[in-house]
Parts: sequence; C-alpha cells; structure tokens
Amino acid sequence: MDLLVSPVPQLHTMNPSLGEGALGTMHDAALGFADEKLVYVGPAADAPSAKKTVDGSGCVGLPGLVDCHTHSLFAGSRADEFRRRLAGESYTSILEAGGGILSTVSATRLADDDLLAGLLGQRLDSFLRSGVTTVEVKSGYGLSVAQEIRLCRILAEGDWPVTVWPTFLGAHAIPKEFRSNREAYVTAVVEEMIPALSGIARAVDVYCDRGAFSLDETRRILKAGMAMGMDGRVHAEQVEHTGVAAMAAQMGCLSADHLEQLDDVGIQAMADSDCVAVLLPGAQLYLNDPAPPARALAEAGVPLAVATDFNPGSSPVRELLSCATLACLRMGLTVEEALLGITKNAALALGCRDRGWLGDGSVADFALFELPPGENESSALVQYLGGHKTRCVVRNGRLVWSSEG
Ligand code: NIG
Ligand code: FE
Repeated sequence: MDLLVSPVPQLHTMNPSLGEGALGTMHDAALGFADEKLVYVGPAADAPSAKKTVDGSGCVGLPGLVDCHTHSLFAGSRADEFRRRLAGESYTSILEAGGGILSTVSATRLADDDLLAGLLGQRLDSFLRSGVTTVEVKSGYGLSVAQEIRLCRILAEGDWPVTVWPTFLGAHAIPKEFRSNREAYVTAVVEEMIPALSGIARAVDVYCDRGAFSLDETRRILKAGMAMGMDGRVHAEQVEHTGVAAMAAQMGCLSADHLEQLDDVGIQAMADSDCVAVLLPGAQLYLNDPAPPARALAEAGVPLAVATDFNPGSSPVRELLSCATLACLRMGLTVEEALLGITKNAALALGCRDRGWLGDGSVADFALFELPPGENESSALVQYLGGHKTRCVVRNGRLVWSSEG
C-alpha cells in the first residue's frame, strides 16, 4: 500500500453501510490508498502497513469536500462595488446600471488565457488547502460566443489541483451590446454557444431573476442545453420570486440554487422531483437576504447541498466549511445536514455518484482536519467559524497537500 492515514479518531464516511448514522461514522479508523484507489477503510488496529503513514491523531476525517457552485474564473476587482453596497446601493441596481457582473465581464474579456488560468489556479489551490477536492466552476463572465467558449475550454482543458466540474453560464446577464435586443443574445446562447459546448461543459445554468433572464428565456435555454446532453441547473428565486425552481424541478434539472424567495409550490415541486436545493449562505450574508426555507425543504425530503457561490460580487467567500457554519446559523441546518451538504449532497447536485462519500466505488479523495485546541467532538469543525485547520488532503489516492509540508 502506498499511503496509510491512521489513526483517525472520528471518520465520517457519509456511507451508512460502513459506519453509524447518516454520516456513516467510524471511530479509530484508518484509510489506505494504493494505485490511485481507496483500498482500505476500517479499524486502525487491523490496517495493513504502507510505504508512508500520516498520523491522524486528534483529527476528523471526511471525504474530499465538494463545492458544487462557484464562479471562480474571472479577472478584475469589485472592491468599489463592495463600498457602494455598504453605502446602501442594491446588488440589482448596480447590475442594471451596467456594473456588478458586467464589470467583471469587462475585466475578464480583457484578460488573456494565461492570466485567467493563473488566477483560477491560485484560487483552486486555496480550495484544496481547505479540504475541497472537487469544485464546480461556471463560465458566465464572457457573455459572447467566442468568450464563453474560451472560458469553458480553460476550465475543461487545464490541469488543476482539484477536479474541476465545468458549467456553462452564458445566461448570467444580458451583455451591454445586446441591451436593446435581448432576444438575439438568447438565440446566440441557444444556437451557437450550447452546440459548441456540449461535451465540454457538463451542465447548463441560467440566472433567472429581475435584471437577468425571464422564465421563458430560461426555459428555452435549459431545454436547448438539456437536449444536447447537459445537466440543467438554475440560479433560482434569489432576488425576486419567479417560479423558476418549480419549472426547473419539472424539467428534470439537477439543482435549483439560492432559493431565498422560494414558495410552497416550489418546495412541493422540488420534493416531487430529484432536484437538489443548493444553499448559498455567503450570498445571503453579503446581500443581506432573507433565509431560504431550508427546514421546510428538508422536511419535504429535498436533499440540501451547501456551496460557497465564490464570486467577486455577491459572495467573495472561499471557505466551504465556513459556509457550512453559516448554513447552520442563518438557515437552520443541523451539523449533520451541513456536513452532508458539503459532501454527498453536493456531489448529487453535480449528478456525480462517485464522490462526496468513502467506500467501495468512491473516488480516493479524502480530507483530514485538526479540531480547534481543547475540542474533541467533530461538530467543533462546524461550530467554530473558520476555525478548522487542514492536516492533509488526498486526491486520487495521492497525498497532495499536508500541513507538514
Ligand atoms: O450566484 N446571482 C447571480 N450570480 C452570482 C453573482 C455573480 C456576481 O455578482 O459576479 C451569484 O450570486
Ligand atoms: Fe452563483
């Protein structure tokens, strides 16, 4: 065996067939890796020896975390917008005046491929250091045929420190050039961008909201993408209630994300489908939005995922475990729901069954965290905002990051 992590006093496998409860918890466990695979999960006392061992004493083990909603590919800064919003301007009024997302579009269009890839690589390194091994990244700051194809290519073709899951978000905002002819932009998304990106982007996403795309436009774009084999996802019910979450659920989309303005009809439609609710507490915090109805969603049986929504405007937050904390504090999740939300249910929102849990058939992605001094319950990982320290990260069976260097 190449690598052994042992002992791990608390290991949440997220695999109920391996351990206790919904989190599949094992005590005094060990994990063994060989040939890029997970080959042993079991009692530390019975673990075979390996060429290299990482000591997990005092730590909590989780599957490599999955961030299922980010906008990590961009250039430029929104420092000025942050000040304007602190002074009382709204996110939507800044966007409608040509700022917000559109200011990031201007900066991203001007950046060459090397600059963009360099920025993305640095951001993904910081995700990895916080235990995240899979990151969904959306395009959406190009907003022209050539630029959106360029962004999706960078995502799909790079050799990144984490697994990147590319999503096409050409329908993020109406670009300035199409302000007076939005129909022509939607047609370009449907007839030019989507056909060029099938096989490159795994999913198609639409921001359906005031100041962005209408329900009819969203339906047309999702239909076109899903007909080309992309999974459907939506930015839903964030600023204004539109009914898009119910529509997305009925169309068979994998997820509806945000959901601050979701109503009972939407909750029921999601419960009647396999659509995952992706909660984004970073955006809720930065935009001072109300909480989505997370308890009602959970009680209706809708799987809850939690993501950073990392972007330079509404959620400049890269710490996924901190988002788990915020989802508990500001949305009413339990610690267990929050941990499932950044692992197994996040993978479900990506339509990806082999990650977010550990066991036979899972990828060999693993993260080990030190508890804050004096704590020994794994819930302290979620209780302390930003208080976790990553001990090591294993990706595809290889030790890719360790606090010991
Ligand atoms: O998920 N709501 C729309 N899109 C992003 C924000 C992107 C941006 O502000 O640059 C979101 O919050
Ligand atoms: Fe988003």
